Amino acid sequence: MASVKDDVLLALGKVSSPDGAPLPATGKLSDVLVSDGKVFLSITVDAGAVQEWEAVRARAEAAIRTVAGVKSVMVALTAERAAGAGGGSRPPPQRHQAALAAARGHGARPETRAAAGPRPGPAPGAPSAPSPAGIPGVGAIIAVASGKGGVGKSTTAVNLALGLRDLGLKVGILDADIYGPSMPKLLAIRERPQTVGGTRLKPIERYGMPVMSIGFLIEEETPMIWRGPMVMSALTQMLREVEWGALDVMVVDMPPGTGDAQLTMAQQVPLKGAVIVSTPQDLALIDARRGIAMFRRVNVPVLGIVENMSTFICPHCGERSDIFGHGGARHEAERLGVPFLGEVPLAIAIREKSDAGLPVVATAPDSPNAQIYRDIAARVRDGLAGAGRPAPKIVIEA
Ligand SMILES: Nc1ncnc2c1ncn2[C@@H]1O[C@H](COP(=O)(O)OP(=O)(O)OP(=O)(O)O)[C@@H](O)[C@H]1O
Ligand SMILES: [Mg+2]
Repeated sequence: MASVKDDVLLALGKVSSPDGAPLPATGKLSDVLVSDGKVFLSITVDAGAVQEWEAVRARAEAAIRTVAGVKSVMVALTAERAAGAGGGSRPPPQRHQAALAAARGHGARPETRAAAGPRPGPAPGAPSAPSPAGIPGVGAIIAVASGKGGVGKSTTAVNLALGLRDLGLKVGILDADIYGPSMPKLLAIRERPQTVGGTRLKPIERYGMPVMSIGFLIEEETPMIWRGPMVMSALTQMLREVEWGALDVMVVDMPPGTGDAQLTMAQQVPLKGAVIVSTPQDLALIDARRGIAMFRRVNVPVLGIVENMSTFICPHCGERSDIFGHGGARHEAERLGVPFLGEVPLAIAIREKSDAGLPVVATAPDSPNAQIYRDIAARVRDGLAGAGRPAPKIVIEA
């Protein structure tokens, strides 16, 4: 029996590209992801050809909609500049998005062009990438990032978000880790987002916070054969084609590392600031420095460093031991002139609760660990306000 994916590919074979070739033969299609009747793919085209491809995109969506078993479909057009054009400097991805929005008939509406608040001038020698457009209704977007993987970024992101919520803010969480999404596990989310009006998605609500992750849309076993542009288009969609509603703060759990993909994300997402998570080991600190340098390069203020897995507290006797050394991140923060936001101990309760989808701040609010996260959240909030960049509330009626 043919799978929905096979039927989708058959349907796409009947759609022609602008030069008459069947779509699957153009080499421009990403892998076709099918999950629970939702179909998701991207077409990567040269930036100059976006207008003529928009009709193809629309025909592809229409063709897929006729396939039995398809409940919703999202075909994204992703622009890529022709190789060699323009002397090899990084293309400003936002311009492509604006072109896409215009080509898709959304136009560049004034609210989508609203800047995410004033930014400091570019550092000397920094590339002067234009600021990406803000998200209507979202006050401040902050990234939780690290130079390397496995330092507890996602755990910190969730508990920081909950800490901000406990301060009375309306908070959302965007899992930008397309290759290794964590939110389904950390928040025990197994349901699928509903579509609104065919193309927009409703985030999943947890603990009073809207949450969005690529992990809600695809199966865990789905091979991640994403191409770079596909990653960007998935992120852009989760950011801009999701009904986030009015938020004071959106916490973005970034993918680990400081490579090109992360840099592009830092440029694509209109960030107000970044929180760097590091473990105390030297190596992680070197990576943390790279993380800080990356955000500085794109003129995103670093709100501070969190030292995670700082001190081990024995669950039996309560004794503290500094397994990885201790205080390195505080010292490093001082040296680099960025705020130190706090130390989170290596605690079995944090790991067990995280891995069970029951984050400590929500499920053990009276524990010392929850208080540590709330203190960090308060410093982040103060950092956002005190840096002279009060979160502008751009609430615009749809
Ligand atoms: N303070 C802590 N104490 C104990 N365990 C922790 C702590 N912080 C995180 N962990 C555990 O460490 C593991 C990695 O954490 P997490 O997934 O948050 O890291 P990450 O930096 O987001 O990883 P990745 O780079 O893979 O996205 C998880 O099992 C988590 O429960
Ligand atoms: Mg993670």
